[in-house]
Amino acid sequence: MKNKTPPTTVERIMREDDFIVSTTDIKGRITYGNRIFIEFSGYTERELLGAQHNIIRHPDMPRGVFRFLWDTIQAQNECFAYVKNLAKDGSFYWVFANVTPLFDPQGHIEGYFSVRRKPRTESIAVISNIYRAMLEAEQRGGPREAVDASLRLLQNMLAEKGLTYHEFILSI
Ligand SMILES: Cc1cc2nc3c(=O)[nH]c(=O)nc-3n(C[C@H](O)[C@H](O)[C@H](O)COP(=O)(O)O)c2cc1C
Repeated sequence: MKNKTPPTTVERIMREDDFIVSTTDIKGRITYGNRIFIEFSGYTERELLGAQHNIIRHPDMPRGVFRFLWDTIQAQNECFAYVKNLAKDGSFYWVFANVTPLFDPQGHIEGYFSVRRKPRTESIAVISNIYRAMLEAEQRGGPREAVDASLRLLQNMLAEKGLTYHEFILSI
């Protein structure tokens, strides 16, 4: 299911003590969402369960961020990321997300778990500029090289700062 509602400039802001929690299967299909996830996404639990997590993907998010996220969690590591999400009614909400793999008793990945909290306004300002530049690189790059171009931009920015992705993300 795709959200056909055009994105608006209406922002929803998480409260300090909110946690948005969801889990997915290995393909990224939603298997659980807490009450706050339902509230912010604007979907019913019925609509969310079984849907791909990209149901709340916002067009302002660069593809490179999700490529990095999936590469990281599939390699059995946790990933932190700032994400701008699209609610069903077209409004948006920023989250600071932590995504981790879930393991079965044999140690194989059986799904993913994500918890998100309210990002600081200052962090959103920093990351929005980077995402805007990544998105522009993707639009310039054409579909094949798009993601590589935007990830290169991110890596160059990190190299200039002498930081790993996670050092940087946790520092802003
Ligand atoms: C546990 C988990 C949570 C996710 N949470 C979000 C989310 O909140 N917003 C989002 O846009 N993508 C989220 N994703 C990534 C989506 O699966 C998807 O890769 C992304 O929306 C980009 O969509 P696309 O791959 O169709 O371009 C999550 C993935 C996992 C595994």
